[in-house]
Amino acid sequence: MSENIIKIKITDREGKQHEVEAPTDMNFNLMEICQAAGLPVKGTCGGMALCASCHCYVLSNHELKEPSEDEEDMLDQAFYVEDNSRLGCQIAISNDIDGLEVQLALVDDED
Ligand code: FES
Repeated sequence: MSENIIKIKITDREGKQHEVEAPTDMNFNLMEICQAAGLPVKGTCGGMALCASCHCYVLSNHELKEPSEDEEDMLDQAFYVEDNSRLGCQIAISNDIDGLEVQLALVDDED
C-alpha cells in the first residue's frame, strides 16, 4: 500500500463502522473523505466551518490540531455537542491521524 494512504474508522449514525482509506497528499479533509465513502455528511458550507453538517465525535486518542475560532464558534451553535466534538471539514487528512476513529454526530434536521 502507498505511504500516502491512511485508514480512518468512521461510525455512522446507525452505529455501523466503516473503515475508509484516505490519501494524505491531496489536501482532503475528513468531511470530504466521509462524502467520498458515501456517508451521509452534507458539507453544506463546502468546508468553511459554517454549517456543522460535518460534526463528528473523535473517539481515538489522536492529538488533533486545536480548533480554530471559527470552528469553536460553529460548535457553540451546533446541536448534540460533546467534549470530543469536531467539525470534520476542519480535520486535515495527514499521516498524523492514521487510525483515527470518529463517529458522525446526529444532525438536527434531515432536509
Ligand atoms: S462542512 Fe460545513 S462546517 Fe464542515
